[in-house]
Amino acid sequence: MTTLGVIGLGRIGAFHTDTLSGLDSIDGLVVTDERPEVVAAVAAKHGATPVDSVEALLASGVDGVVVSAATPAHAELTLAAVERGLPTFCEKPIASTAAESARVAEVIARSGVPVQVGYQRRFDAAFAAAKRAVDDGSLGALHTVRSTTMDPAPPPMEYIAGSGGIFRDCAVHDFDVIRWITGQQAVEVYATGSVQGDPKFAEFGDVDTAAVVVTFESGTLGVVSAARYNAHGYDCRLEVHGFEDTVVAGWDQGVPVRNIDPANSFPEGPAHHFFMDRFTEAFRAELSAFVDVVKGDALPGCTVADAVEVAWLAEAATESLQRRVPVSIKEVRSR
Ligand SMILES: NC(=O)c1ccc[n+]([C@@H]2O[C@H](COP(=O)([O-])OP(=O)(O)OC[C@H]3O[C@@H](n4cnc5c(N)ncnc54)[C@H](O)[C@@H]3O)[C@@H](O)[C@H]2O)c1
Repeated sequence: MTTLGVIGLGRIGAFHTDTLSGLDSIDGLVVTDERPEVVAAVAAKHGATPVDSVEALLASGVDGVVVSAATPAHAELTLAAVERGLPTFCEKPIASTAAESARVAEVIARSGVPVQVGYQRRFDAAFAAAKRAVDDGSLGALHTVRSTTMDPAPPPMEYIAGSGGIFRDCAVHDFDVIRWITGQQAVEVYATGSVQGDPKFAEFGDVDTAAVVVTFESGTLGVVSAARYNAHGYDCRLEVHGFEDTVVAGWDQGVPVRNIDPANSFPEGPAHHFFMDRFTEAFRAELSAFVDVVKGDALPGCTVADAVEVAWLAEAATESLQRRVPVSIKEVRSR
């Protein structure tokens, strides 16, 4: 019998509740959010138990907790669950800043309670196959890894206001993937970006289009491209170039590009609409793996330590964009 609590039932929280309610390994769900009307609606849809506070959820006898509330609440909610000894899945990022992430990670490490962080690309079949190809040596040493994320349209501006910016909110997925794929630590980050859509991005000190070059310890280059406006669909691709071979992930029939090569009909579509349809199976695999963690049958596939390293990358990219200079990870970490 495994019962999970879900805290935060917005876009992704409602989606995770939907996914969890379809898992055979789950026997019950307890849900809460700051918005009572949302709690009632999600509970009714999935036969979950609604509660009116985080305290009530943590005291309800759940075996584990999914934190899918807005980013500024992640650290406090995760620590509250961990304090009670409850295995926790926290959506990315683990905290609003890298320094706070590092502090939260220390408390979690001391507690010994397992915490998994929500970088779901690791659980996508194609991305996982790319990782295996790197690990089995068939690509040879990697010289370049390219990771792209383009949303069809930006989330609401209230979300952008609390998101921490495109690097901490969106490109963190790319940073996680290029770290995970290369198995290397990043040394230096050079980022740039621009506002070409809603001018409100600039009011929040954010950009809607960004590019980042990450230099890893062996010299492998990571090239990240992120954009909030890509009307053709949700574009998420990974290209891994080694001295011996290259593999790509995300170049499936739904990749939202119009190939104008007359001799090639690929891709045949329909284009991926958003991250939810693109990563439905990955989210399922990710949450299934978390249930195994709750049961004590597995270790988290994406750790808090991983999330802290990703947070330093996002911090360095944010600073590089602001200062218009390359920023070393050592430099941001030492502050
Ligand atoms: N892994 C992914 O691909 C992915 C995709 C989308 C969002 N996310 C992450 O998930 C989180 C939520 O994003 P979203 O798009 O669902 O946002 P959202 O704004 O749609 O929903 C956030 C929800 O959290 C609730 N909330 C805020 N503080 C709370 C608290 N202290 N206690 C209980 N409920 C609280 C809000 O009422 C709201 O319903 C963000 O941190 C985001 O980074 C991850």
